[in-house]
Amino acid sequence: MLELINVTKTFGDIAALSDISFKVDDGEFVFISGPSGAGKTTLLRLLLREIKPNQGEIILDGKNIAKLSSKEVPRLRQHIGTIFQDFKVIPERTVAENVEVALAVIGLPKNEWPARTEHVLRLVGLSDRANLFPSQLSGGELQRVSMARALVVNPKIILADEPTGNLDWETADKIMDLFEKINQEGKTIIMATHHKLIINKLKKRVIELKDGKVISRGASLPQKKEKKVDESEKEM
Ligand SMILES: Nc1ncnc2c1ncn2[C@@H]1O[C@H](COP(=O)(O)OP(=O)(O)OP(=O)(O)O)[C@@H](O)[C@H]1O
Ligand SMILES: [Mg+2]
Repeated sequence: MLELINVTKTFGDIAALSDISFKVDDGEFVFISGPSGAGKTTLLRLLLREIKPNQGEIILDGKNIAKLSSKEVPRLRQHIGTIFQDFKVIPERTVAENVEVALAVIGLPKNEWPARTEHVLRLVGLSDRANLFPSQLSGGELQRVSMARALVVNPKIILADEPTGNLDWETADKIMDLFEKINQEGKTIIMATHHKLIINKLKKRVIELKDGKVISRGASLPQKKEKKVDESEKEM
């Protein structure tokens, strides 16, 4: 479980986040919404320990992320997959090689790479694109590459920052179906977006930020009901 308790992050005079508190259960799919400048990206960067809060605690599975030593940070990041608006793929590498980069980072033995890579490329529907280069792919396909790369290390949590920001509606819709599938397989998803159509369509919990403050945490009751459905699906 993830819990933020009275988290504040300032950059000089700018309060990017002020006294933020909320919880995210394991296996939840939560949107972080709010207008430009609300603090969404700052929040995700705190969860990744790219930056530290000025005040407050960020507790992930009983440990305060803000207090981790720099030695412990790589371990934290092994449990978190990241997906961004601009895909962040390496142009000189093929689709499969882009995914394998993530395995190299965690030091997985090379003989285990092909099976892991094939598995996630199948999951995102890119098996037949494995040997193509990014310049040969569509925007939706590039986002699938970045999803495969995030998933290949088998993280517990996926952080996504405007993952559909560069996609047309139809492509975005398909990418969101894929996020739902990943969530149903047990990953916790925390997605920053101001894409209202998507938020309304998926009917997940929405944590709304404005000027660095939480203005709504979303309903907790429907979220519990949803979780039960997920668990029974897993048993099938
Ligand atoms: N490194 C930084 N230095 C100074 N100010 C920053 C820094 N990072 C973020 N901010 C400020 O913090 C506020 C929140 O920024 P953030 O990027 O988190 O917003 P956002 O909700 O992700 O916006 P968008 O929807 O445009 O991506 C903004 O006012 C921004 O200018
Ligand atoms: Mg942002």
